[in-house]
Amino acid sequence: MSTDAPALPPDLEAGLRRLRLRAMRALSPELLVTAKTQRWKPEEFLRTLIEAEIASRDASNAANRLKAASFPVTKTLEEFDVAASSVKSATFDYLSGLEWVRAKENLCLVGPAGTGKSHLLVALGHQAIEAGFKVRYFSAVELVETLYRGLADNSVGRVLEGILKADLILIDEIGFAPMDNTGAQLFFRLVAAAYERRSLGIASHWPFEEWGRFLPDHSTAVSLLDRLLHHNVLVVTEGESFRMKEAREGRKT
Ligand SMILES: Nc1ncnc2c1ncn2[C@@H]1O[C@H](COP(=O)(O)OP(=O)(O)OP(=O)(O)O)[C@@H](O)[C@H]1O
Ligand SMILES: [Mg+2]
Repeated sequence: MSTDAPALPPDLEAGLRRLRLRAMRALSPELLVTAKTQRWKPEEFLRTLIEAEIASRDASNAANRLKAASFPVTKTLEEFDVAASSVKSATFDYLSGLEWVRAKENLCLVGPAGTGKSHLLVALGHQAIEAGFKVRYFSAVELVETLYRGLADNSVGRVLEGILKADLILIDEIGFAPMDNTGAQLFFRLVAAAYERRSLGIASHWPFEEWGRFLPDHSTAVSLLDRLLHHNVLVVTEGESFRMKEAREGRKT
């Protein structure tokens, strides 16, 4: 803002402050000068102010959603090298378009270490936030811990409803650590509550037939997978670990 624009009259300043029209308040003094000198039509002046306020609100809402998502790292779809991964470009495009989030479908990423599962989950989460969705990221361990805390003070139902405020719930690293019976039941409750209501995006290095390795009860595992896979996009990531590749290339240079 140029410093020579006269300050707004105090009543306008106070009114805009009270209405929390922060961007309008910041822009008005300078814009009044511009509008006068350039003989703007009144609606042009009003439109510019309103557009500035909307843009600023959208940006601050997105920043709040980003914070609430609790991503452990920042990864973007632009940084994801599709050609270097086993993910087909048609699949990548479908996922990037987020139609599956609108349709409340699930995404399951399955593949060995370092093949881009977390990168894709987090990057799709960022994309969803930019598109206006609410997103929440958990590692499986964090998710179970969060639900366990609810168990301790009898608030699991409320905790679940809190998580389900997100349109897209991302659960990474499923099966890194075994779940006990209660943990598996809590995980099941989330999957059942999200079923056909919200999108789940999950990542695991265990193919589904191996989920018995970390889910202790067979019938819980079956019911959970049944719901998870009903409306689901399965993406198998294969190949060598990006971490290994980068370490080797780092050594060479
Ligand atoms: N296709 C890709 N393009 C660019 N970077 C990638 C790609 N795949 C993986 N990476 C990078 O390689 C590293 C490892 O990937 P990531 O963390 O997504 O692996 P992962 O499949 O989640 O592995 P783990 O099972 O061990 O959690 C990250 O830094 C990630 O950004
Ligand atoms: Mg990972």
